[in-house]
Amino acid sequence: MRLTIIGTGYVGLVTGACFAEVGHQVICVDNDSAKVKLLQGGGIPIYEPGLEDMVRKHSASGGLRFTNSTAEGVEKSDVIFIAVPTPSLPDGSVDLSFIEKVAREIAAAMTGYKIVVDKSTVPVKTGDKVAETIKRYCKAQVEFDVVSNPEFLREGFAVGDLMKPDRVVIGVRSQRPVAAMKEIYAPFQAPIIVTDINSAELIKHASNSFLALKISYINAVSVLCEAAGANVQEVAHGMGMDERIGNRFLNASLGFGGSCFPKDLSAFIKIADQVGYDFGLLKEVQKINSAQMDRFVKKIVDTLWVLKDKKIGVLGLAFKQNTDDVRMSPAIDLCQRLVKEGAALRVYDPKAMDKARAILPNATYVEDMNEVAEGCDALVIATEWEEFKKLDLDRARKGLTHPILFDGRNLFDPAEMEKLGFIYKSIGR
Ligand SMILES: NC(=O)c1ccc[n+]([C@@H]2O[C@H](COP(=O)([O-])OP(=O)(O)OC[C@H]3O[C@@H](n4cnc5c(N)ncnc54)[C@H](O)[C@@H]3O)[C@@H](O)[C@H]2O)c1
Repeated sequence: MRLTIIGTGYVGLVTGACFAEVGHQVICVDNDSAKVKLLQGGGIPIYEPGLEDMVRKHSASGGLRFTNSTAEGVEKSDVIFIAVPTPSLPDGSVDLSFIEKVAREIAAAMTGYKIVVDKSTVPVKTGDKVAETIKRYCKAQVEFDVVSNPEFLREGFAVGDLMKPDRVVIGVRSQRPVAAMKEIYAPFQAPIIVTDINSAELIKHASNSFLALKISYINAVSVLCEAAGANVQEVAHGMGMDERIGNRFLNASLGFGGSCFPKDLSAFIKIADQVGYDFGLLKEVQKINSAQMDRFVKKIVDTLWVLKDKKIGVLGLAFKQNTDDVRMSPAIDLCQRLVKEGAALRVYDPKAMDKARAILPNATYVEDMNEVAEGCDALVIATEWEEFKKLDLDRARKGLTHPILFDGRNLFDPAEMEKLGFIYKSIGR
């Protein structure tokens, strides 16, 4: 099918590449001319495992094209996906100005029936607003349908998630676009759920908020574990073997971050507020998350005492493993807190250093994770990159002025670390 995706970011680019992979003709639109130019020239603006090869392959075959013209995308496709940002406003509600602008641009370019699909994460009832806007701004007065098709990909695993989704949610206002939507997704051989549009929009916010809740739950349990002398990993393992609970998202850590969970949680609380429900449960999830970071910083300060003029090595800057995304990264938040306390940082991340430089300009960026500890008063693990498990611990211990390691991701075994001579502080163990 001929598909256009407006917004070529983490969601739009991966979706575009995966749609091309299954044989659709895809146009990716972005209003960032530098990004479009980079993609047209064979470059790639983000790191996502497997993405670069896919983009290169389909750009070469012509199945995937890039433009900064929304009008061109609308004209040449039957189905238009919207994948632009939906950031938080200061009060926690969603800034829908990107969606509204794109709706107007699509409307202005429409000359025949189109299906307009919202893939961005939006508050319930946004689909109705998009439909109203298109109707108002479409001079040609052609027919169209608005569909909600929320995206559930995880950064760092996005290609795999897109190619093999747990489910595809299609929210509609009429049955007319259902056949086309099913045809688009048929090659992915995933269960397809067709709902009304409001339910589809709610599914996304309810899912992300639930996952954040699960993380905060185990983080709260980790506090109990520390106080009671238990091990949160053993507790999580024992809980997770119950199929009703499941073992995923039960890793105690310094908290969740990224461009989705914090903003989607705030949005869901605000959406509930607007319909007259006080979603206190989710407010508690937020509180637990920020307290978790406070507690981790306190552990560092309690151990090192004054941080002024101390040198701290930090492994990990991305908000999670396998990505270069540093938006709302707990690792960056941690670094900023350490800097505020007066510490100088030596940092390393396998993929996120370029993006971090703009936010942490004064840190020393080290190209080899095994050199980070050199001359530091302590080493901190802030992101759960798999490769950090292969850190040369012997070298790190010798490089540190005193062998202190704070592990915000529970990558090592406390007993082993002690045996190796480290003062090792992790989460809930
Ligand atoms: N990143 C994720 O893991 C993820 C997962 C699921 C859902 N989502 C949701 O998907 C949406 C997009 O997220 P993202 O992480 O891909 O954002 P992003 O910031 O990576 O990408 C958005 C892109 O849209 C472009 N853009 C903005 N306005 C435009 C316009 N008027 N015309 C054309 N392009 C425009 C930007 O230049 C940018 O390249 C958000 O609603 C987000 O909540 C994100």
